[in-house]
Amino acid sequence: MNWKAVAAAAAMAGIAFGSVTAADGTHDSRIALMKQIGGAAGALGAIAKGTKPYDAEAVKTALTTIAATAKVFPDQFKPGTETGDQEASPKIWENMDDFKARAAKLSADAETALAQLPADAAAVGATVNTLGASCGGCHKAYRIKE
Ligand code: HEC
Repeated sequence: MNWKAVAAAAAMAGIAFGSVTAADGTHDSRIALMKQIGGAAGALGAIAKGTKPYDAEAVKTALTTIAATAKVFPDQFKPGTETGDQEASPKIWENMDDFKARAAKLSADAETALAQLPADAAAVGATVNTLGASCGGCHKAYRIKE
């Protein structure tokens, strides 16, 4: 990664996380991070489906967001923040290693995709399938539907 990419990633992380650090471990901070991930996944999904034209920069931005956000997401589930969140299952705190491993896998898969940037809509689709398995698996295990 050259310095420009590092600066861009840092700037993006600042925009993404700046407003939530003060509210660490709340339902709002968790949702804010998941919304970032959801938005990025949505952008990839639109390209995969062809509702948006393939755009290498957009793919790069979305994958960078997913990689960076999934990395800090488990930090929002510190001991003692179990209560008051209707959507986050208590099982998260009981199985923190597994929860962290699932977030780490999503981040690592996004980084792998970033390194071999998907070159067309079909390749973006394959990436969405890989990442989507992590989304669905973790939600099934740890997210309580409202
Ligand atoms: C490590 C586990 C984990 C992974 C991986 C994960 N999520 Fe989530 N997600 C959660 C949890 C837990 C919640 C509920 C958080 C809360 O309410 O405090 C959630 C909530 C959400 C929400 C709801 C936000 C809202 O506005 O209420 C969206 C959207 C979402 N995830 C999208 C995704 C997508 C897309 C992916 C994959 C690219 C993904 N998630 C991967 C655990 C995960």
